[in-house]
Amino acid sequence: MSPAIGGTLARLDGRAKVSGSARYSGEVPIPHLAHAVLIGAPVANARITAVDATEAEQSAGVLAVLTHLNLPKVAMQPSLLPSLAGLAAPGHTFFPMQDDTVHYAGQHVAVVVADTLERAEHAATLVRIDYDTTPPVTLLEEIKDQAYEPQKIFGGLLPGRQVRGDIEAGLRDAEVRVEAMYEFAANHHNPIEPSTTTAAWDEVGRLTLYDGIQGPTSTQLTAAAFLGVPPAQIRVVSNYVGGSFGSKAMVWPHATLAAMAARHVGRPVRLALNREQMFTSCGHREQQRQHLTLGARADGKLVAVRHHKLSLTSHFDDWAEPSLQSPAIIYDYPNYEGIYRLGRGNINTPTFTRAPGEATGMFAMESAMDELAERIGVDPVELRLRNCSDTDPATGDPWSSSGLRECLERGAELFGWAGRDPRPRQRREGNWLIGTGMATAAYPHAQPVNPQRARARIYSDGSVIVEAGVSEFGTGISTAMTLVAADGLGVTVDQVRFAGGNTDMPNITAAVGSAGAGAASAAVHLSVTALREQLIGMAVADEQSPLHGADPAAVVVEGGRMALRDRPDAGETYSAMLQRKLVPDVEAIGNWIPPAQDVGHGMHTFGAQFAEVGVDAELGLIRVRRMVGVFAPGRVLNRRTAHSQLMGGMLWGLGQTLLEATRMDARSGRWANASLADYLVPVNADSPDVVVDTVEVHENVVNPLGVKGVGEIGVVGVAAAIGNAVYHATGYRARSLPIALDDILSQAS
Ligand code: MOS
Repeated sequence: MSPAIGGTLARLDGRAKVSGSARYSGEVPIPHLAHAVLIGAPVANARITAVDATEAEQSAGVLAVLTHLNLPKVAMQPSLLPSLAGLAAPGHTFFPMQDDTVHYAGQHVAVVVADTLERAEHAATLVRIDYDTTPPVTLLEEIKDQAYEPQKIFGGLLPGRQVRGDIEAGLRDAEVRVEAMYEFAANHHNPIEPSTTTAAWDEVGRLTLYDGIQGPTSTQLTAAAFLGVPPAQIRVVSNYVGGSFGSKAMVWPHATLAAMAARHVGRPVRLALNREQMFTSCGHREQQRQHLTLGARADGKLVAVRHHKLSLTSHFDDWAEPSLQSPAIIYDYPNYEGIYRLGRGNINTPTFTRAPGEATGMFAMESAMDELAERIGVDPVELRLRNCSDTDPATGDPWSSSGLRECLERGAELFGWAGRDPRPRQRREGNWLIGTGMATAAYPHAQPVNPQRARARIYSDGSVIVEAGVSEFGTGISTAMTLVAADGLGVTVDQVRFAGGNTDMPNITAAVGSAGAGAASAAVHLSVTALREQLIGMAVADEQSPLHGADPAAVVVEGGRMALRDRPDAGETYSAMLQRKLVPDVEAIGNWIPPAQDVGHGMHTFGAQFAEVGVDAELGLIRVRRMVGVFAPGRVLNRRTAHSQLMGGMLWGLGQTLLEATRMDARSGRWANASLADYLVPVNADSPDVVVDTVEVHENVVNPLGVKGVGEIGVVGVAAAIGNAVYHATGYRARSLPIALDDILSQAS
């Protein structure tokens, strides 16, 4: 294979983004455009008793005020929706404005449409809605007595309870036990671009939706089901998306509301959420508590793990992020019990957020492993190495590939871990207490369930266009797919244009669970491979070709030129052949049918995280001084963008550990810090030197190119590595995220 894959290519969309010429779904110019403004309920648990829209309707420029009184009922039960292409709705089954019930603060209760955004915003202030309120329940602390064990979690994708072996006997017979409770604040995604949908119907009832989303087909299928319109009549365009982090994985109701408003007023309508609305309209990572017990032998070998989670969900969905999945299989031990419990609150349904589940579950697991290491006097890296598993402990199947040992060893080497004094509070630089910590990272490899498709076309001048309906939501997928196409076809990167981002293109599943690159690269690779074979077939069949009569398997392509492997002088370019034959273009489809999940291999991505912190002994300030992350993500398609994603993931982890928390005002049932001023994320000044490395693994199970993905593994384990470093620096064991400096001040002095 030519070296295009695994090369280093700067983002091809970079110029458009920094120059402002990239048009996002709220920027597409549409003639005669009207603007919709959502009104969210200011209360969290209520019935609407009266609506007075008279003044708003008479306000200048207003075209409509839609509420539950006049909005048409949606066409289909939301629970039947294929919300992520090919999957049943994973989570969100609620559609607002269908009756007078308010389940959570911020729930959409009205849509005001006017000829300008300013007039719509003004009119929205004139709509009077009366509520009969009941005190809301919004905190984990309030629901624990009413918690229940769901059959399924995570949108029905995973069971609510998993066991193996005999947990009671395993814990009873363990020589060492570590037991602790871990607490997690709610988190919000906060992409820079708030979700926006522009909806335009044409004269014959076809709908175009410009929507920022992780997969255009998701919006197409969801809107089709709600609107009662065939998917084929709906075109979704998602050319640029300004970040997502899971908030644009699900199709939230505002996208369909934009289409309903446009149909109602007979004009194209743009509906943009504002920043505050992003906190109640697109899900979040749920507030949760995890109770973890490790049982081990005196040498540190784990024998039993009990991991229970209690979290808050909405009144209509059994959502829990799968926090127990990676800790359940990361190490080799025979006895396990994982149980999810849920309590219903007056909140919107939580959703996928930055390594949903793993980012929290592995904090608990890897913090407890650090305690175990200290208890038995074994180095933390050595403890992990002793527990590494060559097989998936849940099934006994071998890993498709692992690399965990190599990640741990390489990370320790890059970080300079050897010779670390394990005792806490031993290093000090002025006021700063210095500590180091490490953790394992793990992220499941999710396979799409439906065929993944791409289309490749070459023109007689040698230029190539490859299309697949992916969404470029900041991952660099278009750039990586350009490399995959150039590689498979044997042409230069300059000859290829990759296009994605709309439903006219062959379908690729929404990019969730870090599976985007694996799914898209499989389809793109198969499409260009089919095209290359077609072109070689044309050459060897053509009497005028220097390749006439050759064995197609003996033909290689480089720089767009086909030649015999053993006789490079015998050959011609694709372009020369097509022009001679007067063929303007040739096209091929790639159709990848993913293997089933239960194919006799465990599929997981592994890594290792190391961090050094300084903690101000008097002020409790925590500064992360450096981080090293080493990962085994299978084939890396583009070194440059993969490095960026992994580094970005590690900085998400820094945010999760030290900064990110959405706090609920329990009396009002409203998020108290629903703004970018009050919801803290790391900025450059918070971000230390980050070293990212990968180790190679032989991976030929998951997809044709062996791509496991780099989207989320970077965040996993960071919180534990930092938390363990804080312990090493101060002697304070952090069991609640984010770590607050007053916790350190009150306990470490
Ligand atoms: Mo990703 S948080 O699984 O969309």
